[in-house]
Amino acid sequence: MSILIKNGRVVTASETYIADVYTKGEKIVAIGKDLNYDADKVIDATDKLVFPGGIDPHVHLDMPFMGTYSSDDYETGTRAALHGGTTMVIDFILQTQGDTLHNALKTWQGKSKGKAIGDYSYHMAVTDFNDDVAKEVVQMIEEEGISSFKTFMAYKGALMIDDGQMVQLMKVVKKYGGLVTVHATNGDMIDSLIAKNQAEGNMAPIYHYLSQPEVTEAEASGRFADMLEYTGCPGYIVHMTCEGALNAVRKATQRNQKVFVETCTQYLVLDASLYEDNFEGAKWVMSPPLREKKDQAALWSGINQGLVQVVGTDHCPFMWEQKKMGIDDFSKIPNGHPAIEHRMELLFSEGVHKGKISLTKYVEVASTNAAKIFGMYPRKGTLAVGSDADIVIFDPKKEHVISVDTHHMNCDYSGYEGMKITGKTETVILRGQVAIENEECHLKAGNGQFIPRGKTSKTVI
Ligand code: URP
Ligand code: ZN
Ligand code: ZN
Repeated sequence: MSILIKNGRVVTASETYIADVYTKGEKIVAIGKDLNYDADKVIDATDKLVFPGGIDPHVHLDMPFMGTYSSDDYETGTRAALHGGTTMVIDFILQTQGDTLHNALKTWQGKSKGKAIGDYSYHMAVTDFNDDVAKEVVQMIEEEGISSFKTFMAYKGALMIDDGQMVQLMKVVKKYGGLVTVHATNGDMIDSLIAKNQAEGNMAPIYHYLSQPEVTEAEASGRFADMLEYTGCPGYIVHMTCEGALNAVRKATQRNQKVFVETCTQYLVLDASLYEDNFEGAKWVMSPPLREKKDQAALWSGINQGLVQVVGTDHCPFMWEQKKMGIDDFSKIPNGHPAIEHRMELLFSEGVHKGKISLTKYVEVASTNAAKIFGMYPRKGTLAVGSDADIVIFDPKKEHVISVDTHHMNCDYSGYEGMKITGKTETVILRGQVAIENEECHLKAGNGQFIPRGKTSKTVI
């Protein structure tokens, strides 16, 4: 299969220009003015943007969590991602405490192989670190193409490791060229605030938000940065929500430290006023919770200052029936919301269209930086000769409205219902095949490939 995309505005993390793009097989073969190739398919991209497929490095597909499973599996989740212009996701494998990383890997291979439609990779969440697991960490990097290790500073009893384990893990990961990522919130503080609210009979979703104040995230982010500085390990804070946490990273830069930071679309565009005093707020019960307008402003400027390098989603959807597990107690509401589909369009509409970020910054945070940080650049994350032909053709003027009635995620509500968006994903190409056209997905379950990742370092960007 060969495709010639004519006259689009090509956008990369460094420039934009009008050009044609020619793909053959799975790769980009040529980019230039007035390319003269015979192609199986020609797409007129006049007045459209042509940018690299989005990479969402923070999704939870078919994940066991809080007594249930996230409602999108690899098939429905990667299909919805493709509809929105995300051609690759990185999901989280969870080690079961007391069990091995290899057993967890096998479980996640069973979830993804033959099911994924878009490309994927895995982070390995280390929830129980010891000498045997240390050996497995090395095998993951050297033999399995998994070079990023997720840690949790919260969710005690299920996922959390202590600071001693964290430091030992960082030492191994640094030595073998990997990266430690973190859910940075102070789990003990949060647990005590939850217990206090429960004791006082405060059971509505708003108390989820009130049990995780900004300080719990700011403190843990600073502590994580200190442990990275001590060990020299490269590190990445996932789903950062607030000014306080960003300031902890800003402070670390003053000793010339680099800590990678990811925020998520919801923290840029939604705020805590959604947690009213009724159960509706369960739709946005996620950890960390939504914050304030001042935090949105801090995150947008963090993106422009280069302190926030990646925008993901933390896609972790649950059906309304599942959310109702916490109808009498906010602490039992499964944490997470559906987001994988609209990341690229929301970020374009709220970011580029509203003048908060440039087009090149958009591509940088939605695709390129994730590819660089997670060891798959330039195969993924850019439009360049020799890169995978993962391409989005995007109409920057088309207006539409987000709704559960039209989304493709396996979730019976939308956290963005009725939101007006400017900019729409039109055609999506995944490794040289047309994945999305005319709002239909042309690829089947099993088309998605596992993308093994290489080593990384603090200086990749
Ligand atoms: O609420 C969330 N974020 N659910 C998924 C698990 C996590 O902490 O990322
Ligand atoms: Zn998390
Ligand atoms: Zn997550």
